[in-house]
Amino acid sequence: MKLSFAVNGRKQSLDLDPRVTLLDALRDHVGLSGSKKGCDHGQCGACTVLVNGRRINACLSLAVMHEGDEVTTVEGLARDGPSALQAAFVEHDGMQCGYCTPGQICSATAMLEEVAAGWPSHVSADLTSKVELTQDELRERMSGNLCRCSCYPGINAAIGQVATEVPAEEETAD
Ligand code: FES
Ligand code: FES
Repeated sequence: MKLSFAVNGRKQSLDLDPRVTLLDALRDHVGLSGSKKGCDHGQCGACTVLVNGRRINACLSLAVMHEGDEVTTVEGLARDGPSALQAAFVEHDGMQCGYCTPGQICSATAMLEEVAAGWPSHVSADLTSKVELTQDELRERMSGNLCRCSCYPGINAAIGQVATEVPAEEETAD
């Protein structure tokens, strides 16, 4: 099937087997290997990308479903130099092997926009007032992104630094 969509602001036209996932299309057909394949089953978040500004697991979505969409991968977040989140991950040692990192950063990018838009989460006590990105909120909202190296203290500190409304917390292991 023919597919035409934008990846990191550049138009891509592909001819794909309809069974190809968005993740495989990005990695094997567009040549962007930043998005990682961890589980290929929607359980680890390593493949997280932004589609029209919203985070999704690219391994759970067929590429041909994205005709006309705007896809942003971790490479696209660095088009004008490292994003604030990317720089904060480096500053706070938010990675060890780095395999989960592209998904963490894409997910956090969209998560901060969800907070700014006032979307409540499973742990939000008040569904009507402004979301306060407490550590509980942050952990819940990032719970779809696993890190087998257990770099959560650094990851949370990096995200907390960028989301200035997050109260600074001591970096202790989970
Ligand atoms: S590779 Fe997509 S969620 Fe794990
Ligand atoms: S840094 Fe290794 S899995 Fe997260």
